[in-house]
Amino acid sequence: MAKFSLKINGKIRQVDLDPTTPVLWVLRDHLNLPGTKYGCGIGMCGACTVHLDGVAVRSCQLPVSVVNKQEVTTIEGLSVTGDHPVQQAWIDHDVAQCGYCQTGQIMSAAALLKSNPNPTDEEIETSMSGNICRCGTYLRIREAIKSAAKK
Ligand code: FES
Ligand code: FES
Repeated sequence: MAKFSLKINGKIRQVDLDPTTPVLWVLRDHLNLPGTKYGCGIGMCGACTVHLDGVAVRSCQLPVSVVNKQEVTTIEGLSVTGDHPVQQAWIDHDVAQCGYCQTGQIMSAAALLKSNPNPTDEEIETSMSGNICRCGTYLRIREAIKSAAKK
């Protein structure tokens, strides 16, 4: 076990854990932040996507010991009131079906638009290709990203 001081959604949080513990489980099991989802656990589905200093990463593949001073942002911290332009576009386009993958989709989309505010369809497809949706909401996701980009 080891002590870690993590900056998560703007707050410093202390945890005492095995250094190999994935950030996904730190968030869900130790910090009561269940918005980040467990899908595959092997970096293949994107359900667990969070931001590490604004870059989309798979939290199931991120040991707590490598986070250091980088800031982790989860869906709970993307906006205080849930009205981030990507979240608003998701509502406007009625994107979610079962919803399970959507945290990861939104976090990936928000990171994409931060680095590329006006992506082409091809850039959206490439950037979002690691986020799997079993309900097949891909077309609505693309339209919502284009809509959020306009804002
Ligand atoms: S749960 Fe992390 S990529 Fe699937
Ligand atoms: S909305 Fe059901 S898995 Fe994506």
